[in-house]
Amino acid sequence: MADSHSHRIETRAVHAGQQPDPSTGAVIPPVYLTSTYVQQGVGEHQGYEYSRTDNPTRRALEAQLASLEAGSHGIAFASGMAAISTMLQTLDAGDHVICVNDVYGGTWRLFSQVLPRHASLSFTFLSLQDLAELEEAIRPSTRLVWVETPTNPQLNVIDIPAVAAITAGRGIRLAVDNTFATPVLQQPLTLGADVVVHSLTKYLGGHSDVVGGALVTSDDELAADLRFLQNAVGAIPGPMDCWLVSRGIKTLPLRMERHGANAAALAGMLAERDDVEQVIYPGRADHPHHELAMRQMSSGGGMLSFVPAGGVERARAIVEGTTIFRLAESLGGVESLIELPGAMTHLTLEGSELAVAPELVRISAGIEHVDDLLADLAAALDAAPVQATAGAG
Ligand SMILES: Cc1ncc(COP(=O)(O)O)c(C=O)c1O
Repeated sequence: MADSHSHRIETRAVHAGQQPDPSTGAVIPPVYLTSTYVQQGVGEHQGYEYSRTDNPTRRALEAQLASLEAGSHGIAFASGMAAISTMLQTLDAGDHVICVNDVYGGTWRLFSQVLPRHASLSFTFLSLQDLAELEEAIRPSTRLVWVETPTNPQLNVIDIPAVAAITAGRGIRLAVDNTFATPVLQQPLTLGADVVVHSLTKYLGGHSDVVGGALVTSDDELAADLRFLQNAVGAIPGPMDCWLVSRGIKTLPLRMERHGANAAALAGMLAERDDVEQVIYPGRADHPHHELAMRQMSSGGGMLSFVPAGGVERARAIVEGTTIFRLAESLGGVESLIELPGAMTHLTLEGSELAVAPELVRISAGIEHVDDLLADLAAALDAAPVQATAGAG
C-alpha cells in the first residue's frame, strides 16, 4: 500500500490517504463540499452522515497526518488552538497540567486566561530543562505534560525521551507540539510522546494560505475521546482547508530541506557580524542544546532568532527594513518572514514571567534563493547602524 508506514516520509507525504477517487479515477481525491450525506434507509449510509462528524476530504488529510507522524489516528481541527483546546477537554475537573514555560503565547493564554474561567484545572509552567524539577512538580492529580520543542521563539530544545521516561506508566500523558520541527525532522510518537500537536497553518500547510490544526496519537482510547470531542465540540476544519493542507504536505519534505539550509546560512551570516549579540539556532554548535537537538531532530529546522546589538529600536528598524522578508506573524510558509515576538506573536506574554526580550528578532526562513535572503537581511542590518539607533528609544 502506498501509505504503508514502511515507506519513507517523502513517499508517505505524497501518497498516504490520497487514493484516487474510485468513481472517476481522479488522481487527486476530490474536495467534498457537502454538509450532509443521503441515507438509503434510516441509519443506512456509506459511512458519512454529517460533515461536522466526518467528511472524506478531512479523512484523507487525517490519514496523511497519522502516517507522517507514525501514528494510528490523525484528528484535524480548525486551527492549532482548536486542536490544543480540544486536547485539554480530555481532562477532568481538578486535573493538573505541567507545561513548558517558553510556550507559544496563544497556548499560554488558553491555559492561563481561558480554561481557568470554567474548568478547575491547574497549571505549572517549567523550563523542562531540569528533570528533577519536573519530577518534583508532579502531583497525584497531574495528567498531562505539555512540551513544545523547539520552543517558540527562544528555540529551546526539550529532551522528549527523557520527559517520556518520567511520565510513562503514571497516568500522565505527554503531548508534544511539533509545529516547529515537523514530522520530517522529528517524530515525537517514536520518542515516547502520547500525542503530537500541530498548527497546520505553519509548515504542513506551508503556503500561508490556510489555518488548521491537528492531533495525532497511537493511543486508541485517547483517539476515541478526541474523535468524540471533535464532533461534540465542533472545532472542525472545512473541506477546502483540509484539501489545501493535504496539497501542502506533499512537498513538505522537499520544502524542509530548503527551509533548513536557508536558516543555517542566515544564522551563519548573523553570527559573523559584530552588530549581532546573539544568534539562536539549534542547528549551530554554539546553541546550548545543540547535541540534544541533533539527537532527536534530523536538522536544525527553518526557524532562527537573534538579538541585534542596539536594543529594541534597532531591532524594530531591522524588521521594518527588509524587502524580501515580510514583516508578519506566523511561520513555515514558502516566503521568509521576520518579526519581533515581544511586540507581535508573544505580546500576550508581556508583563508575565514568560515575557520575551523585546529586542529578540524571529525569522522563518522561506524557500527563496539563499543569496537573495542573505543580501536582504544584511542590507537591513547595515541600514540600521548601532550608533544611529542607540538611545533612540
Ligand atoms: C508552536 C505553535 N503551536 C500552536 C500554534 C497555534 O496555531 P494556530 O495559529 O493555527 O491556531 C502556533 C501559532 O503560531 C504555534 O506557533
